[in-house]
Amino acid sequence: MGVRAGFETLGQEVDVELEVRGELPPWLAGTLVRNGPAKFETDKGSFRHWFDGLAMLHRFGFAEGAVTYRNRYLETPSYLAARDGGHIAYGEFATDPCRSIFSRFFAHPRLRRTSNANVNVTSDGDRDFALTETPIAVEFDRNTLATVGLADYDDALDGHVTTAHPHRAPLSGDLVNYVLRFGRRSAYRLYRQRGLTRVPLASLPVDRPGYLHSFAITERHVVLAVFPLVVNPLSLLLRARPFIENYRWRPELGTRFLVVDQRDGSVVADERTDAFFAFHHINAYDVDGGVVVDIAAYPDSTVVDALYLDRVRGDAELPLAFPTRYEVDLSGGGVRSRRLAEDSLELPRIAYGSHNGRDYRYAYGVGAHDNGTRDFLNRLVKVDVRSGRTTGWHEPGRYPGEPVFVPAPDARSEDDGVVLSVVLDAGVGRSGLVVLDAATFTELARADVPHAIPFGFHGQFRAR
Ligand SMILES: [Fe+2]
Repeated sequence: MGVRAGFETLGQEVDVELEVRGELPPWLAGTLVRNGPAKFETDKGSFRHWFDGLAMLHRFGFAEGAVTYRNRYLETPSYLAARDGGHIAYGEFATDPCRSIFSRFFAHPRLRRTSNANVNVTSDGDRDFALTETPIAVEFDRNTLATVGLADYDDALDGHVTTAHPHRAPLSGDLVNYVLRFGRRSAYRLYRQRGLTRVPLASLPVDRPGYLHSFAITERHVVLAVFPLVVNPLSLLLRARPFIENYRWRPELGTRFLVVDQRDGSVVADERTDAFFAFHHINAYDVDGGVVVDIAAYPDSTVVDALYLDRVRGDAELPLAFPTRYEVDLSGGGVRSRRLAEDSLELPRIAYGSHNGRDYRYAYGVGAHDNGTRDFLNRLVKVDVRSGRTTGWHEPGRYPGEPVFVPAPDARSEDDGVVLSVVLDAGVGRSGLVVLDAATFTELARADVPHAIPFGFHGQFRAR
């Protein structure tokens, strides 16, 4: 057993009522849907990287102190090819399609976009979508988790890559994201979305696109932190390497902050600072003459390599991210940075509904106990970004996933609510949902599911 159980294929799909130990707050009602990879091999080939596995949705239903659990694979063309054909038909993050399939397509098979939406979920009104880094959202039924189909955007915006972390614009409520099409002239094309229509907001040309997993938003601005893990688009088209292996770490380029005014799409700052890398932004907000951007920052991109399955299933060292603040001056004064806390932080979440894009105090995430690098992420952490103080939750042999903050109804403070985290108990090879009081970080309840849930990425809670 051990931490490997978090990186192994989960075959069973179940519908069960969970035994709750402890007490859930009576107001907690709704659903938490989480997304992540759950199938790592096919008859004819295996995926190579944690980010490659085929998407499975996990739904926790909360009502009157009881918890139900259901899990289903997302039945995309990528999944069906693996299940029914036994092969990898689409290129993933770090895995190319099976050879025989590869040769069947005449042009750029690596850019034949996968629909394996294993990263995040989002809602638009009553419709729910699973997301990945190709601009193909997969609609699913929030209650049954049945796959409805691939979203068909009602517009002409197209691209090869996007982020699975769209933001709600704090003032308009529009979803904001970008698409990027690789070519001789590549550009981050920012857009705002209502329903399935995406309206262009700005086009930011770039010769060597950086690998960006997320971006930041404030009330007034959109901020792209372009890390120097960059690709020559021609390499993607011409070289026989999986997607991410075409990117090169070029620290001499530094990290570039592009700040765009949401009102007219103009670039109001284009500043460089020392090279660093990140998957996740924590939050951002406007200040007089500048923008504050908080990021779970790594010194370099070695974490991408550290998450290949042969390394995470072994005992390779794990690079750690730390909560770091970047203040971008809007009058050409550069970027100032400082670490917000000395405890590692990944998969960060905030009180998004009330504090997204606004000055805030608390971030929640996973980290490494004592900042140890010889184990996988094994701690839940709450960071007070104003004081740098942290509070943790750690039990030996238990590996928590992204903590999702759920505010209490009529919350009286930013941290009045609970955090929900799926935790793998490596000793017994089972996962469970752990519910912490967000203010005190003490455990309120836990509810075990009948199997080990492979480590996932992101989930969203929706109140009834
Ligand atoms: Fe992410």
